[in-house]
Amino acid sequence: MDVNVVNHPLVATRLSVLRDKETGDPEFRSTLDELTSLLVYEASRDLPVRVGEIHTPVSPAEGYQLDSPPLLVPVLRAGLGMADAARRLIPESTMGFVGLARDEETFEPRAYMESLPEDLSGSRAIVLDPMVATGGSLLHSCRLLADRGCEDIMIVCVLAAPEGIDRLAESGLPLTMVTASVDDGLNENAYIVPGLGDAGDRLFGAI
Ligand code: PRP
Ligand code: URA
Repeated sequence: MDVNVVNHPLVATRLSVLRDKETGDPEFRSTLDELTSLLVYEASRDLPVRVGEIHTPVSPAEGYQLDSPPLLVPVLRAGLGMADAARRLIPESTMGFVGLARDEETFEPRAYMESLPEDLSGSRAIVLDPMVATGGSLLHSCRLLADRGCEDIMIVCVLAAPEGIDRLAESGLPLTMVTASVDDGLNENAYIVPGLGDAGDRLFGAI
């Protein structure tokens, strides 16, 4: 699996704000929104475009349109914190949803909702979730997409643990990843170290 770790000063500074335990929830939300724009910009670099003729006030010129815009798939809850920024950047996109909560004993995801097009053959998807820890949640989400025929799945996350990357890479699914950092690993609670804590709780509160 191709993993693109975005090396950019603006990504590094915003990631530091997210990691800092002194960052309050409102600033966490706005900073995740900013960071998502930077990551989706990178993730969309190779989207195919259609070329046609447009007319400037002065002359004809080459114009571009996205050819088959991607399906954006935020993984609830925490992925919702990335959805607005991704949609702003690619307004031509459509959006589907997967709802998962990780069981804090087995660390496996429990699915509670999905809303996805039935047929995704020949299409591409950008899956949004700030955290890839064991990789179980992303594996479940990406399988749903691949089972519907999606042939090109880009994962956009803030942090990925090596354990999660290995699990996704071994799945054989058509995956690539854009991330702000590959962290050191997981602790005994399957939290990413150094990580940023519980992304869903910092965005929406502990429930
Ligand atoms: C978090 C996170 C990922 C998942 C990562 O969600 O947003 O979806 O855990 O862990 P994994 O790689 O080990 O599966 P969580 O299940 O805590 O739900 P939330 O987004 O509702 O807080
Ligand atoms: N989910 C989170 O929100 N953070 C982690 O470090 C691992 C899973």
